[in-house]
Amino acid sequence: MSNDRATLIEVGPRDGLQNEPGELPLAVKQQLVEDLAGAGLTVIEAGSFVNPKWVPQMADSEALFAAMTRKAGVRYTALTPNLRGFERALTAGADEVAVFAAASESFSQKNINCSITESLARFQPVMAAAAAAGMPVRGYVSCVLGCPYEGTVAPAAVAQVTGDLLELGCYEVSLGDTIGTGTAGGMRALLAELLGAFNAAQLAVHCHDTYGQALANILAAVDRGIRRIDASVAGLGGCPYAPGASGNVATEDVVYLLEGLGLDTGVDLDRLIAAGKRISDFLGRPGGSKVARARSGG
Ligand code: HMG
Ligand code: MG
Repeated sequence: MSNDRATLIEVGPRDGLQNEPGELPLAVKQQLVEDLAGAGLTVIEAGSFVNPKWVPQMADSEALFAAMTRKAGVRYTALTPNLRGFERALTAGADEVAVFAAASESFSQKNINCSITESLARFQPVMAAAAAAGMPVRGYVSCVLGCPYEGTVAPAAVAQVTGDLLELGCYEVSLGDTIGTGTAGGMRALLAELLGAFNAAQLAVHCHDTYGQALANILAAVDRGIRRIDASVAGLGGCPYAPGASGNVATEDVVYLLEGLGLDTGVDLDRLIAAGKRISDFLGRPGGSKVARARSGG
C-alpha cells in the first residue's frame, strides 16, 4: 500500500442514521448517499440488513439500494449479521458486506444476541455465500478500547477475534472503539499487540468520538501505518446497543487531519461540508464537525 494515500470508509448513512430517534424519509437517506459519493468518498456503508425489530431505522435498506443513483468507482456496502442478512444484501445489490463481532461477551449478547463464538459460527455460512457470489467481506470488532458493560477490554481479546475474522476470510478488520472512551495510549498499546500478528493493511480503525479522543486515536493508528479509516459525515450517530456512545468522528475532520499529514483522500472537503450541512439541517441540529463549523463562519 502506498504511503501517500488514505481511504475514508464513510459510515454515516448506516452507523450515523441507525441511531436516529425518529423515522427518516427514504429520500433524505438517498440524498445523503448521493451527496457523499459526489464529494469523492469511494466506500459508503449505506445500510444494514439486520432484524428490523432491533434497528427499525435500517428497515428500508433494500429500498435505499434500489433508489440510489450509483456513481462509478464507489463501493456501496452494508452490514449483515447472518445468512438472512447476507441474502438480503445480495438481492439488494450491495457491493460488499460486513460481519460484526465484538471483543466483549456482554456486548456481543446485547448487540447480536449471541456469544462471540456463536457469532463466528453464524458468519461461516455468510463467508461461504459471499465467496460463491464473489463478494468481499469486511469484519468489525466492537469494544476494542472498552466495553459499556465490562469496562476494560484486553488487547489479547481483540487480537483473538481479529485473527478469527481474518481466518474466516474477511479481507480487513475494522477496530471499533464503540463507546469512544479510548485514548491514544490505549490505541498504541492495542496496535503494539495487533501489529505483532497482523499487517497494517489488514486493519482499519473506527473511532467514536464520545470523549473527544477520536482524532488523536486515528493519528496513533496512522503513525503505525493504518490507512483505512471509518468516519461519519457531520459526526452522525452512535450504536443503539452502546448507551451513551456518540457518533463516529466527523469525516470532515478526518479529511482535514489526513490531508494535513500529506495523505491524499480524494475527498472534496467543501462538497463534504455541504453534504454534512444538508443532513444536519434536515435533522434540525448543528453538525458535529469542527472543521465544517470553522469553514462556515463558526
Ligand atoms: P435474534 O432475535 O437472536 O435472531 O437476532 P433470530 O435468528 O432468533 O431471529 C429472530 C427474528 O429476527 C426472526 O423473525 C428472524 O426472521 C428475524 P420473527 O420470526 O421474529 O418475525 N431476522 C432477520 N430479519 C431480517 N434480517 C435479518 C434477520 N435475522 C433474523 N438479517 C440478530 C439476531 C443478529 C438478527 C439481531 O440481534 C440483530 O438484528 N442485531 C443487529 C444489531 C445491530 O444492527 N446493531 C447495530 C450495528 S453494530 C454497530 O453499530 C457497531 C459498529 O458500528 C462497530 C463499532 O462501533 O464498534 C459496526
Ligand atoms: Mg460504530
